[in-house]
Amino acid sequence: MAAGHGFGKVILFGEHFVVHGKPSIASGISRKTVAELKPAKKPGFRIIDKRPAAEGYIKKYEESQRKSVELMNKAVWHLDFEKHPVEVTLGGDLYCASGVGASAASCVAMARAVSEHFGLELTAEKINLCGLEGDKAYAGTPSGIDNTCSTYGGLIYFRKNMQGGPNAIERIQLGKPLDIIMVSTGITTRTEEAVAGVRERLKQNPEDYGRIFDEAEQIVNKAKDALAKGNAEQIGRLMDENHRLLQRIGVSHEKLDYLVGLCRKNHALGAKMTGGGMGGYMVAVFSCPNCVEKAAKACEAEGYKVIRARIG
Ligand code: MEV
Repeated sequence: MAAGHGFGKVILFGEHFVVHGKPSIASGISRKTVAELKPAKKPGFRIIDKRPAAEGYIKKYEESQRKSVELMNKAVWHLDFEKHPVEVTLGGDLYCASGVGASAASCVAMARAVSEHFGLELTAEKINLCGLEGDKAYAGTPSGIDNTCSTYGGLIYFRKNMQGGPNAIERIQLGKPLDIIMVSTGITTRTEEAVAGVRERLKQNPEDYGRIFDEAEQIVNKAKDALAKGNAEQIGRLMDENHRLLQRIGVSHEKLDYLVGLCRKNHALGAKMTGGGMGGYMVAVFSCPNCVEKAAKACEAEGYKVIRARIG
């Protein structure tokens, strides 16, 4: 049986602004989606989705998932699944909800499994391209940051090339490992809609939004420096600032704001929503493992799903 994996991701700085050519910083996390593929009898590409997920998530994205396979096949695989039917089972330990890169992770995992099964020998670059193409079914015009984290893992500074050339991707060496938690609001959202909303409001308020976008860029540049120096306090402060900007462009949600507050009350150095927003996940950063546990337990006590992760 052929198999492949795709990492989940956390955007530490710059989501949404990255779609418009501003820089961002994100990391793969060790939780991943795994795709196992075997030949089938019934023509087509059948997916059995056993991923752990927020309520309603799998159903909501069923159609996008089918489309993602079509897009990857058209752009890269060029296979005839009517003649060569397959069955793919998705699993792994990535709890799927909006904001953790679950869609890109499933595309990357499937692309790896398809490559192995059909002997396509796709390079990491081609797998990454599959992730980008497939993610279009979920995010409309993805910046490319999710599939890049999902394919390669690690912490990166990412800037989309708005002229269509290669994106700027730099690896960041962390001065000190960073303890984070990601907490799911349980609300499943469509990244495509959140991105379209920002685009519309940017059109209506180009000057205000222009200033906010510039502030976001400055935050990312300061954060890059703080991460390299391992200055967790400064990273936390910048995350708080980034969250305020995301609130101003209308992509936060009262539950995200609540969880950000709850983590801050429980020793977080800083916290923000992460990913597309309007629900989905938030992320908080800490300076000690005990503080991580206190905040994680406070969120779990209220019934929220928590991912504990260490970056670097
Ligand atoms: C989604 O994880 C991140 C967004 O910035 C969209 C994208 O970068 O494609 C909201």
